[in-house]
Amino acid sequence: MIKQYLLSPGPTPIPNEVELAMSETMIHHRTPQFNKVFEEARGGLKKLFGTKNDVIMFASSGTGAMEAAVANLFSPGDKVLVINGGKFGERWLNIANAYGLNPIDLKVEWGRAVKVAEVEKQLEAHPDIQGVLIQASETSTTVLHPVKEIASLTKGGPLFLVDGVTAVGVVPVPVDEWGIDVLVTGSQKALMLPPGLGFIALSDRAWDRTKKAKLPRFYFDLNLERKNQQKGSGAFTPAVSLIFGLRASLNMLEREGIEKVYARHARLCRATRAAATALGLKLLAPDSPSPAATGIFLPEGIDADKVLEYLRDRMNVTLAEGQDQLKGKVIRIAHVGYMGAFDVITAIAALEMALRKFGAEIPFGRGVAAAQEVLMEALP
Ligand SMILES: Cc1ncc(COP(=O)(O)O)c(C=O)c1O
Repeated sequence: MIKQYLLSPGPTPIPNEVELAMSETMIHHRTPQFNKVFEEARGGLKKLFGTKNDVIMFASSGTGAMEAAVANLFSPGDKVLVINGGKFGERWLNIANAYGLNPIDLKVEWGRAVKVAEVEKQLEAHPDIQGVLIQASETSTTVLHPVKEIASLTKGGPLFLVDGVTAVGVVPVPVDEWGIDVLVTGSQKALMLPPGLGFIALSDRAWDRTKKAKLPRFYFDLNLERKNQQKGSGAFTPAVSLIFGLRASLNMLEREGIEKVYARHARLCRATRAAATALGLKLLAPDSPSPAATGIFLPEGIDADKVLEYLRDRMNVTLAEGQDQLKGKVIRIAHVGYMGAFDVITAIAALEMALRKFGAEIPFGRGVAAAQEVLMEALP
């Protein structure tokens, strides 16, 4: 038996408590027994999303919830502004194109956050923009975008759609307080569940818009789901076992305290960044890092994909790769979800060893020591 370490930004490790909850005997989804579990999970989600409105669940991955947002809120030809700073910005763009919208592609340099002034400029130049689509945390570049500031620009104007797949449960993204119109996430990140659930919350004005929007929808019909989910199940067969697990994971977050959950993610992120810097490695997101994952450039001449393969297949440590133009150059160490201090230590120690194997002059322990200095903050 060789122990595996899953340190990727989704799927993420699953706590034993959640695994046990998911192994409950299957029950029928149109019963008072299921309704109770579902209602408790709905209550926990509302708190997590910071909204008085419903959080709708789909048996889909996070992309399904993104698609639901577009299909329910727009009409063919609607102009939308897409903040495109990575693979998931591209995903908004692809969904908008697939549904026949008219997206403006606001490209942002990979590794950087969008400038609020750039968004403001686009909104002034195109007063007919119906929606602004963004990632709170762009997982592919490990960047956090300024969602709160952009929300203040869209008040009373275009709808503001936020992909929070690696932000919800990682950093505060309070829907009602900030005036966000749509917030989306998936189960396999900070919610510490397997893949398979998509979540979406809407503001009052977004719910109003669903009545006027003309794009076709069937499985992802938010009004149909809201009507059914308010009655304690879904329009179709819900992912029963995942919802058992969801209730357990929401309880765990509540017990830890959501502010402490955010502080833990921030600390693990700072420790990872400190370690990379101590090892003389460059950070992918120098200015606006996402506390979900840290992107690190490996030294020139070392193929990052080969290092990742070695880490995974010889050392049993799974980290994530760089995508597109970052392929072979970057690795991403995740610290999202069921992660603690010793996951960071494992990741950094393993990276030091793998880099040495690939010929880098890495002094063993230097990155680990830098991470330990930060992690000690939680042990006063
Ligand atoms: C920011 C972001 N958005 C969207 C997605 C897509 O989610 P899924 O793979 O669950 O469809 C991901 C997945 O990693 C993500 O990180």
